[in-house]
Amino acid sequence: MEAKVHHLLLLAISILATQLLSSSPSPNTKKFHFNVEWKNITRLCHSKLVLTVNGKFPGPTIAVNEGDNVHVTVTNKVARNTTIHWHGVRQLRSAWADGPAYITQCPIGAGKAYTYKFSVVDQRGTLWWHAHFSWQRASVYGAFIIQPTTPFPFSLPLYTPNIPLIFGEWWNEDVELVENEMMLYGGGPKSSDAYTINGLPGPSYPCSTKDTFVQTIVPGKTYLLRIINAALNDELFFAVANHTLTVVEIDGVYTKPFATPAIMIAPGQTTNVLLTADQSPHPTAMFTMAARPYLTSVFPFNNSTTIAFLKYQNQNPQNLIPPNYSLPQNLPNLEDTLFATHFLNNLRSLASKEFPCNVPKTVDKSVVVTISLNLQDCPANETCRGFQNKRFFASMNNQSFIRPSTSILESHYHNLNVGFSPDFPEKPPFAFNYTGVSPVVENMSPSFGTRVLRLPYGTRLEIVLQDTNFLNPENHPIHVHGHNFFIVGRGFGNFNAAEDPLGYNLVDPPERNTVAVPVGGWAAIRMVADNPGVWFVHCHLEEHTSWGLAVALVVENGREPSQCLLPPPNDLPPCSV
Ligand SMILES: *[C@@H]1O[C@H](CO)[C@@H](O)[C@H](O)[C@H]1NC(C)=O
Ligand SMILES: *[C@@H]1O[C@H](CO)[C@@H](O)[C@H](O)[C@H]1NC(C)=O
Ligand SMILES: *[C@@H]1O[C@H](CO)[C@@H](O)[C@H](O)[C@H]1NC(C)=O
Ligand SMILES: *[C@@H]1O[C@H](CO)[C@@H](O)[C@H](O)[C@H]1NC(C)=O
Ligand SMILES: *[C@@H]1O[C@H](CO)[C@@H](O)[C@H](O)[C@H]1NC(C)=O
Ligand SMILES: *[C@@H]1O[C@H](CO)[C@@H](O)[C@H](O)[C@H]1NC(C)=O
Ligand SMILES: *[C@@H]1O[C@H](CO)[C@@H](O)[C@H](O)[C@H]1NC(C)=O
Ligand SMILES: *[C@@H]1O[C@H](CO)[C@@H](O)[C@H](O)[C@H]1NC(C)=O
Repeated sequence: MEAKVHHLLLLAISILATQLLSSSPSPNTKKFHFNVEWKNITRLCHSKLVLTVNGKFPGPTIAVNEGDNVHVTVTNKVARNTTIHWHGVRQLRSAWADGPAYITQCPIGAGKAYTYKFSVVDQRGTLWWHAHFSWQRASVYGAFIIQPTTPFPFSLPLYTPNIPLIFGEWWNEDVELVENEMMLYGGGPKSSDAYTINGLPGPSYPCSTKDTFVQTIVPGKTYLLRIINAALNDELFFAVANHTLTVVEIDGVYTKPFATPAIMIAPGQTTNVLLTADQSPHPTAMFTMAARPYLTSVFPFNNSTTIAFLKYQNQNPQNLIPPNYSLPQNLPNLEDTLFATHFLNNLRSLASKEFPCNVPKTVDKSVVVTISLNLQDCPANETCRGFQNKRFFASMNNQSFIRPSTSILESHYHNLNVGFSPDFPEKPPFAFNYTGVSPVVENMSPSFGTRVLRLPYGTRLEIVLQDTNFLNPENHPIHVHGHNFFIVGRGFGNFNAAEDPLGYNLVDPPERNTVAVPVGGWAAIRMVADNPGVWFVHCHLEEHTSWGLAVALVVENGREPSQCLLPPPNDLPPCSV
């Protein structure tokens, strides 16, 4: 007993001493160590070396408090380049810590380390982190949870038990090779072998029943499910058998609560829902949780369903997976655009006094951006596996984005302005019936470049994202780094600049960092460009980013020192080795 007290006392003194000694980072600095390393993991009876953080798949959860400074030292222990992105963290003035390779930094080379330093300011809830180099995010991802400093605006205790549910995709082979092959031959990627919930496919795949996520819950209690879609290329529907979900937060922003039988979640998005254990459990029953894709594409997708279970405490003590489980009755069908539309249209910002919705009522700049898939003729000396034996690309305003080989942010900061040009077109090069043309028209060639959109500090910006029928109209999740935006309108067909703005929601539109642009339709987003730096804007379907469906915003410094980008950190990875 005495020895134990002694030990605790020593521990307390040593903690105190550490805090006193390291006086420069303030006491609310949270430090994390990420080792990017290989780990031999088996799913579907296939063992392979998987790129992980600290050997974990999914990676470790980062949990911090609102207002904390965060230091994550990423050490690259593999013979590949890597970077990490803190998806949805605003990175106010700290663009150097944002992570997308060649946009805000050059990669962390083999054996090298970089400490990402940033603060979480006025943000709370569920975000996530993932690798932002090649397709490494297939396995290098985890939850980023910000505990609020103010009570929930719902009638809930602040410490409502929470359950992270991270959706992903599993390939039986090395995912970087899947991307390399896709880029080499210009075809579509091999689709994944399974979808996963918390890294586990569940019983619907060959040889996978033992890899099933089972969550125990206590009857009568209410839980916060923190749902993250980390899948590479698929939007997903999700439902829990016999339970209603109440949405309370999206992309780390509170919403007006609403009950729904299921959700649609695009890659890059997060959705917090409440679930009350209100069923009378059978002695052996477990409740199915299921996710399957929302398909709007003619490309080959794996249309399978990943399954996990909720079990009530004291029921089914051995976690026996019921051999005759059934899918939740409320799980939407694969092509249920009606459900997806209805669900997304129900999302509203909380817009309370404490958590206001600061949507710009007027704008300084309006930009219209078409989203297209493209085809390029195959060079005579190559074999191409895209449609009509051509090569697939994708574009915004007909520019297929070429990633430079140096960091745009560094080039911008040092006023070198090499590797990119600030002349991204603010409207499509020519107007046509975007969603009315035949999906396969003759000239689907894009132009190629690294043209960015330059914005003075504080610009109130509207971007209308317009899907096109080129090749295949599709729902595209467009992610903006460094800013949240408000989805003020969405619809099908072509955006009508005279009529559609009359229907905008400028009161309580949903605030997000990733918008699902309707298949064959448009979404209008508004934001204030109040974060100096360079910010990647791209489709979060990874195959589309690889094909060039991306652009960057360059937000200039403001007048005040507090409106300026901080200088680069000393350990920023160099652009040449
Ligand atoms: C992974 O582990 C399994 C089982 O221990 C082994 O059979 C396999 O060879 C290992 N694979 C790799 C790539 O190391
Ligand atoms: C898709 O899922 C099924 C399971 O339903 C699996 O057997 C198959 O290998 C997966 N992959 C592809 C490319 O279809
Ligand atoms: C869920 O509800 C259905 C239909 O009401 C019922 O048949 C089924 O047994 C319930 N599932 C469980 C696990 O209780
Ligand atoms: C999934 O795809 C397979 C193979 O293309 C097809 O046979 C099956 O009917 C599809 N399942 C659903 C639910 O669409
Ligand atoms: C085909 O030719 C082009 C131009 O001559 C060259 O850049 C490219 O590398 C060649 N491709 C292959 C696969 O050899
Ligand atoms: C665009 O094409 C669609 C489908 O062919 C057609 O219904 C629509 O009227 C066209 N819109 C315009 C403005 O031409
Ligand atoms: C896109 O650019 C290419 C190359 O300049 C051109 O051939 C094509 O007509 C353009 N297409 C559109 C839709 O702007
Ligand atoms: C890794 O990053 C360095 C620095 O930017 C670059 O020179 C090298 O080509 C990259 N390697 C790969 C395989 O991308």
